[in-house]
Amino acid sequence: MVSLRSLRLSLRFIIPLALALVLLAYTVMPLVGKLTLRWFEKDLDIRSRLIASTFHDPLADLVKQGDRAKINALFMRAIKDERLFALGFCDGKGNLLYKTPTFPESVRCTAGTGHSESGSILKLAQGPLYVSTSQIEMTGEALGTLILVHDMSFVERRSSDTQKYVIALFAVLGVVVSLITVLVAHLCWRGWVEGVRSMLRGEGIFRPFSQPAASSELQPLVGDLRTLLRNIDAERRFADDATISWTPDTLRRLLHKELTGERIIVVSNREPYIHTKEHGRVEIHRPASGLVTAVEPVMRACSGTWIAHGSGSADRETVDRHDRVPVPPSHPDYTLRRIWLTKEEETGYYYGFANEGLWPLCHIAHVRPIFRLSDWQQYKAINKRFADAIVKEADSDDPVVLVQDYHFALLPRMIRSVLPKATVITFWHIPWPNPESFGICPWREELLQGMLGSTILGFHTPFHCKNFLETVDRYLETRIEHESSTISHGGNLTLVESYPISIQWPYPWQDTIPTVDECRNEILTSLGLSPTHLIGLGVDRQDYTKGILERFLAVERMLELHPEMVGRFSFVQIAAPTRSALDDYQAFEAQVRNLATRINQRFSTGSYQPIILKAEHHEPELVNRYYRAADVCMVTSLHDGMNLVAKEYVAARDDEKGVLVLSQFTGAAHELHEALLVNPYYIEQTADALFQALSMPAFEQQERMRSMRALVRDFNVYRWAGRMLLDAARIRQREKLALRIGRHQ
Ligand code: G6P
Repeated sequence: MVSLRSLRLSLRFIIPLALALVLLAYTVMPLVGKLTLRWFEKDLDIRSRLIASTFHDPLADLVKQGDRAKINALFMRAIKDERLFALGFCDGKGNLLYKTPTFPESVRCTAGTGHSESGSILKLAQGPLYVSTSQIEMTGEALGTLILVHDMSFVERRSSDTQKYVIALFAVLGVVVSLITVLVAHLCWRGWVEGVRSMLRGEGIFRPFSQPAASSELQPLVGDLRTLLRNIDAERRFADDATISWTPDTLRRLLHKELTGERIIVVSNREPYIHTKEHGRVEIHRPASGLVTAVEPVMRACSGTWIAHGSGSADRETVDRHDRVPVPPSHPDYTLRRIWLTKEEETGYYYGFANEGLWPLCHIAHVRPIFRLSDWQQYKAINKRFADAIVKEADSDDPVVLVQDYHFALLPRMIRSVLPKATVITFWHIPWPNPESFGICPWREELLQGMLGSTILGFHTPFHCKNFLETVDRYLETRIEHESSTISHGGNLTLVESYPISIQWPYPWQDTIPTVDECRNEILTSLGLSPTHLIGLGVDRQDYTKGILERFLAVERMLELHPEMVGRFSFVQIAAPTRSALDDYQAFEAQVRNLATRINQRFSTGSYQPIILKAEHHEPELVNRYYRAADVCMVTSLHDGMNLVAKEYVAARDDEKGVLVLSQFTGAAHELHEALLVNPYYIEQTADALFQALSMPAFEQQERMRSMRALVRDFNVYRWAGRMLLDAARIRQREKLALRIGRHQ
């Protein structure tokens, strides 16, 4: 269908064409007429000379003889030629001696030359006439002048015919050229529109391999525009970072303003509130999960729906008929939608593929990943079940969905296939390995393709992003733009960006929790320790990635090196049971227990124990009291995406005391530079750091803690979510603009 734009475009060519033709008719054509007239005059001159030379000898003879009858007959024969109108003959004295009856009266003889106006045009009633002369002589004696009068009306006829043909030719040519121009312009326009649309989507001029490239003439322009857009984005980000102070309110406003009040949908395997049946009563637990710690406050700020596996023994009896329950239980802010799994499904998808396959695959902890086909099939099926639930929960065709972690690598693509306009923000809470390591997975391509259904794919650190880009580059046919950190695949564009996760600030118990001294007294008393006893603290799930064994060995080594600490220092390890159905985890729990027992046996005196192992679940508020009581907190993960325990410890210490010993292999080490950074594999170094922490002067503790607290305050979890949502909002705006541009084509 010819659109209005095409019509307007066509008129832009047709109007100038019409003007050009008018100009042609009024200015150029008279010139063409004059030119053709001059050509015909020349022709007539040549013709005159030809006729004159043919007549010369017989005419000269007849004039000499004075034979009027024969001359007249000769003349009459000659003017049978339709273009020769009349003939006359003048003697040297200017007398017109012979003439045809058609000879015009206005043509007169003059003495000497025969005719005064030779080579001139006469405009008479019968039409224009052209007069030419030729001298007639015999053996050097001048006899007179032959006057030839040519009919020029044919010249006018031809000239006007020529003008008509020329105008018609120009008109046809003009129309053809205009049509071709309009066609080319139209094609160019479409190319430009395509180019601008893909640029707005962040694709530049590049399309996925399956689609044709946009016009190449656009390349330099698109390059410049994209740089401009990137700079604008960077400036906006910088301005946002510098000016926005991130709170739940900021996040809410952002959602309202930039994402037009969209409710968000969060998907994770672990649910934020677990209902369990204990002694006949329903209890509510908050799970030990960095993911939940971070995302829950975001959900409370934004509201919406959180879809997760209902894993608690009383979960089913606390939901409504749509499997929904409002949370937090005390003052609901959002909806928890539970998904049910059979034991078999949980074994394959969660324990098997996610935690025996992907978890060790992504962590450098020297535990071999196990990949079973049956686990993979369950993983696919459960991802599909969650995708269906998302589609049901979405109240528009372009929802904002936050997909959490390695349990759902296939989900982004599944969502996009049903809701192509959805904004899918996927966050990978654990490290991303290098391409060789990832290549171990038999279904690596499917996993990567699944993740590339995301609009934004977030990792904690730029290093994990780099690993991911390299992995995609190695195993998939995609277009990667390193400058903008985007991947084009199957018509979809994914921004791969680092968003270091964080915690709620101010932390939730700020106004109600007892003072540091009170917490310290309470904890020390509960442990049966004296008020001056030094406390080290570790808070982890009992996971082999957390470096708990290395930490205990460092405690042992410190006690060896500094015997004065024996009896004065204890290390409290809060170790939440986790994934206990798996052999590796059971073996690890046993190793932790045995090592603690061995060290305790070695250094115990009376009731003193250097290692106090609390291998049970602790609610977050109690953990917070431990943080406030501890002189040092040890985070010695062998490999960790972020490790929020480090940030929680810092947030809990509003007295600006306490020291953080932090593994260099955590994401947190990229931000908390004032911690004592250690390589947990290097036991001597960690032992030294522990001793340094225990003997650190108060002012140094304060300086370090103050600086780390400022960082955690400014880079809190609202900023983490806010930056992702802002980026998503920009992408959404561009998508919408791109669609609008396309619609008016
Ligand atoms: C890590 C993962 C989370 C997970 C948490 C607890 O932090 O990134 O996705 O929730 O461990 O593990 P669990 O298996 O108990 O959920």
